[in-house]
Amino acid sequence: MESSNSQQSQCIISSKQQVKDESSKHQPDYDDIITTLPVGESWNLPSNLYKYQGFWCTPEFLNGVISAKQRFKPLDKDVILCTYPKSGTNWLKALAFSIMTRTKFDFSSHPLLTTPPISCVSYIEFEHAQGVDASREFPLTSTHIPYSSLPDSIISSDCKIVYICRDPKDVFVSWWYHVNYFVCNDKGPISLEKAFDLFCQGIVLFGPFWDHVLEYWKASLERPDKILFLKYEDLKRDPSYYVKNLAVFMGYPFSLQEKAEGCVEKIIELCSFETLGNLEVNKSGKLQGAIVDAEHPAKIFFRKGKIGDWKNHLTGDMANRLDRIIEEKLSGSGLKF
Ligand code: A3P
Repeated sequence: MESSNSQQSQCIISSKQQVKDESSKHQPDYDDIITTLPVGESWNLPSNLYKYQGFWCTPEFLNGVISAKQRFKPLDKDVILCTYPKSGTNWLKALAFSIMTRTKFDFSSHPLLTTPPISCVSYIEFEHAQGVDASREFPLTSTHIPYSSLPDSIISSDCKIVYICRDPKDVFVSWWYHVNYFVCNDKGPISLEKAFDLFCQGIVLFGPFWDHVLEYWKASLERPDKILFLKYEDLKRDPSYYVKNLAVFMGYPFSLQEKAEGCVEKIIELCSFETLGNLEVNKSGKLQGAIVDAEHPAKIFFRKGKIGDWKNHLTGDMANRLDRIIEEKLSGSGLKF
């Protein structure tokens, strides 16, 4: 596809928008199910959390999860990016999108230069929350749904799943900033201590964190051909190795010529925190799509991008408490942080 970067980004956004505008026909409404579920504290966000199939979720997203279970149909050769929130979803989206589309777009006029990663790759449950089953230009989508609650159509298909996880202490700190960025009601921001206590109880959107990670970890051991399990910290330390691996797994391996021409390095550079986080579209651009209030800029998805920022926020006791919980929950699984 020969198109300028701005035209292409417009196209990605407007085709999604168009589908949304046409889609109000099957607006999901599972409130009769949701209102019977156990209720948990909301982290000061307007909606409470409800416990559905063992994980906590807001009613808006639960409508999307349940609708997706009934309606979502993966595309042939679909790659589904699965993450616990704040684990590097947008980084993975950028990498997978640029790997998959590298023969279509020029690096100097790439859609990611003018469109946030969140708008380049759809979220299954967020689109379904709006009654959308979007037609996609590329076989790439994403979700925060836990493995055991994924639509059967995904589990029984040949599509590939890529999961990325991250040190839970960094995930928590990133979550805390994220939630407070969106709190705009009379409850005000949630304190770090209160949020930490809820996180340690597992009461957090799409949590408990440990169940989310463990389910994908176990599934990746059982079906390594179907599920690639990555760690944010590994990707950060050795991007070249993991990006090449990711491309092979997705079915888009780099050729010798591409490697010689520096294609791997170009993708890593394009998707780096420094490049993406400094783009105007990711600093002050408004979010497009279903995830959150479109009035908010995309910059919350590019905060610090560091390993170990938790050390600037958590006390030793807090870190020990979470470490102990994670150790106990993951014990015997072979997975460690
Ligand atoms: P911090 O809040 O610790 O900075 P998600 O995309 O799942 O919401 O995760 C957001 C976290 O990933 C944020 O972490 C964000 O800064 C970090 N991040 C975003 N883009 C990144 C990139 N290209 N490289 C590394 N980290 C990135």
